[in-house]
Amino acid sequence: MKRVLSGMQSSGQLTIGNYIGALRNYVKLQHLHRCYFMVVDMHAITVPQDPAALKEQTESIAALYIAAGLDPNKASIFLQSHVHAHAELGWIMTTLTHMGELERMTQFKDKSEGKESVGAGLFTYPSLMAADILLYNADLIPVGDDQKQHLELTRDLANRFNNRFGDMFVMPQPYMPEIGARIMSLDDASKKMSKSSPNAGSYIAMLDDPSVIRKKLSRAVTDSGREVKYDPQNKPEVSNLISIYSHFAEMSVAEIEARYDGQGYGPFKKDLAEQIVAVLEPIQQRYQEIRRSGEIFDILKKGAEEAAEVANETLLEVKKRMGF
Ligand code: ADP
Ligand code: NA
Repeated sequence: MKRVLSGMQSSGQLTIGNYIGALRNYVKLQHLHRCYFMVVDMHAITVPQDPAALKEQTESIAALYIAAGLDPNKASIFLQSHVHAHAELGWIMTTLTHMGELERMTQFKDKSEGKESVGAGLFTYPSLMAADILLYNADLIPVGDDQKQHLELTRDLANRFNNRFGDMFVMPQPYMPEIGARIMSLDDASKKMSKSSPNAGSYIAMLDDPSVIRKKLSRAVTDSGREVKYDPQNKPEVSNLISIYSHFAEMSVAEIEARYDGQGYGPFKKDLAEQIVAVLEPIQQRYQEIRRSGEIFDILKKGAEEAAEVANETLLEVKKRMGF
């Protein structure tokens, strides 16, 4: 049995990009391995967050984990901020990280571009992410493609620690879907779909009303052609929609292309909206029940206790080896 760890930042509402790239795999992996899934609320504050909104988003994402199929009896589900070892090992990992390594991170470049002032936490965030993973000595990290570079840094830091202080950490590997590891924005296929985008038309949130989902898809950008064909180089917008379709309808790209042969984009986009609604509606219903019941607080408390047991042991060993 392997150890699995991952998490989502509570920096907005989960999108179908988060679902396809990561959450679906969380649900799958919980049946196969020892899993730890958190809401990384301390990563969310690397950009300014309104306190009330942060609290709501954090609870909302935890409830969506359960609504989407995570079982608190199979996986430990918790908030990063509830397990203090994350902040402590995060600091230690920051001291092992080189400035140049952080400067090379494309996510930092994207997120800081054009900003007048950028928080230091946004820069050092990959070191905290390394700590998140190493605390559980996780082997498999279900993430989207945007986290690949951060995961490479985690491996470098694990190696660095092992070389200086003696073998302790395993090398974590990314676990990604073959198609859909990078779902793109609906309004601009050169940008990744992101829950923190200021333009709500660029993403579909998992909690979007069916009418909103239909509207957003009808407005989704396509090219001027009419062929429903998977060709990311020349038809990035349509290819992105095909990837999404493939996940929600559980159909292969070839099956989708065949179904819409000669029909143009209209019927394809309409059906895609219905495929998404069919999957999200039951999740949304369960979500409402979970929020109403208030059970999420007990689930998170139990999850944090389970996580802290492992995390504290790792932290203690790290500190011992480093001379604390
Ligand atoms: P966001 O960028 O939407 O704020 P996070 O940084 O919280 O999302 O990432 C949560 C998880 O979702 C990560 O595993 C990340 O790789 C994955 N993810 C985020 N955006 C996408 C996307 N557009 N396509 C596929 N996976 C994604
Ligand atoms: Na991200």
